[in-house]
Amino acid sequence: MKKLWGGRFTKTAEEWVDEFGASIPFDQQLVEEDIEGSIAHVTMLGKCGILPNDDVEIIKTGLLALLEKAKQGQLEFSVAYEDIHLNIEKMLMDEIGHVGGKLHTGRSRNDQVATDMHLYLRKRVTEMMDLMKELQKVLVEKAEQHIETLIPGYTHLQRAQPVSFAHHLLAYFWMLERDYERFAESLKRINKSPLGAGALAGTTFPIDREYAAELLGFDGIYENSIDAVSDRDFIIEFLSNSSMLMMHLSRFCEELILWSSQEFRFVEMDDAFATGSSIMPQKKNPDMAELIRGKVGRVYGNLFGLLTVMKGTPLAYNKDMQEDKEGMFDTVKTVMGSLKIFAGMIETMKVNVAAMEAAAKQDFSNATELADYLAAKGVPFREAHEIVGKLVLTCIEKGIFLADLPLEVYQKASPLFESDIYEALNPYTAVDRRNSAGGTGFAEVRKAVANAKKRLSEKKRYE
Ligand code: ARG
Repeated sequence: MKKLWGGRFTKTAEEWVDEFGASIPFDQQLVEEDIEGSIAHVTMLGKCGILPNDDVEIIKTGLLALLEKAKQGQLEFSVAYEDIHLNIEKMLMDEIGHVGGKLHTGRSRNDQVATDMHLYLRKRVTEMMDLMKELQKVLVEKAEQHIETLIPGYTHLQRAQPVSFAHHLLAYFWMLERDYERFAESLKRINKSPLGAGALAGTTFPIDREYAAELLGFDGIYENSIDAVSDRDFIIEFLSNSSMLMMHLSRFCEELILWSSQEFRFVEMDDAFATGSSIMPQKKNPDMAELIRGKVGRVYGNLFGLLTVMKGTPLAYNKDMQEDKEGMFDTVKTVMGSLKIFAGMIETMKVNVAAMEAAAKQDFSNATELADYLAAKGVPFREAHEIVGKLVLTCIEKGIFLADLPLEVYQKASPLFESDIYEALNPYTAVDRRNSAGGTGFAEVRKAVANAKKRLSEKKRYE
């Protein structure tokens, strides 16, 4: 089959070589962006008097017909035409005849493919941000139901101090908020137009790049034509932001998996988000959480893949850069799927308040309260720490908790202890009193829920 660029060739490549070089099996996902980019380009060619209006109208009509077919999934792509750009150009010529060959005036596949990717990521990142916001909303709703639910707070995975379960959930809200901000910030760079950079050097035609950019809803154009066609930073940045987001989701998954175990029993995944074992009838596995934790691997892989592809490519375009696509598509699919599953998982999970509170009560996570109690009465904190440490040891030896020790024992350890220590030892009181800014005190958490809701209501969609 003759190539659209076949003029200087005397021989055609073998089919298996074509297959190796082709990107159409995957870049057909860019079909709508590719046609939209072409419509803007040809409109600009008309406006600048580079193509006669009659030709422009015929080409546009042809492209719109292809766009319609693309949306219905009716286009049939062929490896013989290598990639999405040449496939569409070929289809256009089949549709409207040789005038279709004028579309590529003042343009190269190099600025074309970059334009497609910018348009594609702008859409997908905006959709991903919607999903992030949705998950944040689910988190805030769950948090609001559990402001006064106690859970042990952990450090080193050892019970440390009791906290409000809402407070714990909201920690993830803020991680997602930073992710959201990072994606929003990246849109500044995604939404720049490389179109009109040509192969690398610009073009001799009197094009209007700003106008084409405006038609495509870009906020501006790349300043340098070489940079425009060889930049893949915006994709690397997308993969990096996605990696960070997935890392956050994975940490949460790890907790959900632990909490679902018989050792914790803090939560139970809804049947819709769990699976059974083919051999052990008693089992209910938090599969979806495990899978999301596992999927982080491919997203990191995609990031490192593209960083590695780019590290040795001289300016400007190199065919290596065709390798930017599959990792990007895969990341979009993985992150969007994970966010959706996550929201469903959190929304439907059963919280075992009794198990959480029992864990928060039956341990020594209230020991800091006692040390603070003495410190508040003037004992240097270090000494208070030592005194309470000894009391904890006494309890461990006796197999009891701090609240079980009689007052005499306390007063022997320090005469400053009075009967109100039992109130201080109550984990509910311990949490309630931690009202320093951003702390787990119930009043603070109530403020935090309101603040989080306000943040959500202020989010504006990037259009
Ligand atoms: N399929 C190519 C890619 O994905 C399009 C750009 C091709 N440009 C070229 N000069 N071969 O990168």
